Amino acid sequence: MAIFNPKAIGLLCLSFFFFRPVVSEDQVTFMQEFCSEKQFDHGSVYQSNLNVLLANLSNEAVSKKFYNFTVGNSVNKVYGLFLCNGAYTAQCMLRYANHSIFSIVDDSVHFDFDYGPRVYQQFDQQLSSMLIGLFNKAIVDNTSLASALGVVYVRETISLAGYVDCTPDLSPYDCNRCLQSGLSRLPMNGRQLGTTALPSCRLSYFYIDVSPGKRFGASQVNHLLKYEFYSYIV
Ligand SMILES: *[C@@H]1O[C@H](CO)[C@@H](O)[C@H](O)[C@H]1NC(C)=O
Ligand SMILES: *[C@@H]1O[C@H](CO)[C@@H](O)[C@H](O)[C@H]1NC(C)=O
Ligand SMILES: *[C@@H]1O[C@H](CO)[C@@H](O)[C@H](O)[C@H]1NC(C)=O
Ligand SMILES: *[C@@H]1O[C@H](CO)[C@@H](O)[C@H](O)[C@H]1NC(C)=O
Repeated sequence: MAIFNPKAIGLLCLSFFFFRPVVSEDQVTFMQEFCSEKQFDHGSVYQSNLNVLLANLSNEAVSKKFYNFTVGNSVNKVYGLFLCNGAYTAQCMLRYANHSIFSIVDDSVHFDFDYGPRVYQQFDQQLSSMLIGLFNKAIVDNTSLASALGVVYVRETISLAGYVDCTPDLSPYDCNRCLQSGLSRLPMNGRQLGTTALPSCRLSYFYIDVSPGKRFGASQVNHLLKYEFYSYIV
């Protein structure tokens, strides 16, 4: 069974699990999981539907960033989706439930993380402003993935990169609602990077020290996000 690709994935499973996901754990790194206390029976139709669902999602993740799928009927129906950021060290969020989770905003749980030297407090205001600017870009990105990334210069030698996304099944209104909820939980302690992930959306930022005069162009931003940004976050 093909598991989410590439191997160095950070699999963030959110929502209500009735059983642990059927993925081989040596191929994924779990960041965090939030599961319901309710379980289903081993060998049940629900479990077999779940296995089919996870295999399908896993295969689709090789080529897609977002996908939603259902397997089964009535009480044994399983709903699932994933959202990956598509970066080199992909970070994915996987959800499944026995009730519909599509087009429904969910900010009921959150995973927060921050890291690095604590020397950037003075840029908190710029950080908030940049993220809100990215929200506005992400919510109109209705043709593709409801995501936005950007880099601003907070000082000659310090740049600030940010990334936000929502699951693209949400309305712009719900995407914005989730991102605002995420912003209120995002660690902003002046550290070098921070991230908050909710079932329906994610926010991340990363301060970059650059030598005087060195500016980032589009290709450097792309490189940075692919090879540096997420390797910290994962
Ligand atoms: C997932 O299921 C859909 C619908 O049955 C099918 O079209 C698709 O090929 C499946 N994907 C994979 C990778 O198995
Ligand atoms: C995916 O979600 C949309 C709603 O966002 C729904 O209309 C569609 O049927 C879902 N697809 C599957 C395969 O369940
Ligand atoms: C989901 O499973 C729980 C626990 O077994 C059950 O109480 C609930 O009715 C189920 N929901 C649906 C939509 O089947
Ligand atoms: C995207 O949103 C804009 C503004 O709400 C709307 O005019 C446009 O038709 C939408 N496009 C698609 C592909 O949904």
